[in-house]
Amino acid sequence: QDELKQAVAKAAVDHIVPHLDSDSVVGVGTGSTANLFIDYLAEHRNGFDGAVASSEATAERLKGHGIPVYDLNSVSELEFYVDGADETNEHLELIKGGGGALTREKIVAAVARNFICIADGSKKVDILGRFPLPVEVIPMARSHVGREIVKLGGDPVYREGFTTDNGNIILDIHNLDISRPIEIEERLNNIVGVVTNGLFALRPADLLLLGTAEGVQRIE
Ligand code: A5P
Repeated sequence: QDELKQAVAKAAVDHIVPHLDSDSVVGVGTGSTANLFIDYLAEHRNGFDGAVASSEATAERLKGHGIPVYDLNSVSELEFYVDGADETNEHLELIKGGGGALTREKIVAAVARNFICIADGSKKVDILGRFPLPVEVIPMARSHVGREIVKLGGDPVYREGFTTDNGNIILDIHNLDISRPIEIEERLNNIVGVVTNGLFALRPADLLLLGTAEGVQRIE
């Protein structure tokens, strides 16, 4: 799987580099696949201006390579956002947030013109939801949100000992029927106390680079 992750990370760099110039800022996601993307991107350090990071961990890694990290509010154009995923279906609807960075990831994805998802083949599923769906929650709303999730048919599990970069908690929803991802994303968004849920269906990826034994598949 590491080799597949490397292959898609490199494919993403090869895909975007020809479109970058000295003013370009690249949106960068979080996780082990995104980390490999950062390492390859750093080889083209002189071909772009800097990056926007979807987490503190990613910001640190970018800075470690000497890549300037900008506040999203100071960036007017974001042509590309490249990030991994925990699951994807054939419509490029995703579950994200296994690393807990879902809120910043969703914000950067919302701003970017092109969201390129990089994932190894094990992430591709027919129906989303085998991977527990992360939901970022304001701490005082934890029990309320948990009860509302149970009404939706899911089993919320508190991610003990974990605090997001935004100071909130995560509930991971097990056994939720996500055969209609947009509907579930909207219903979760409507629960008071939910900051973000890890479904990317209202804003799916635009391009999926999927690592398989036969090579990198391009799905759009
Ligand atoms: C981070 O919050 C997630 O959305 C990641 O994108 C996801 O966990 C993918 O991580 P890996 O690339 O390590 O599988």
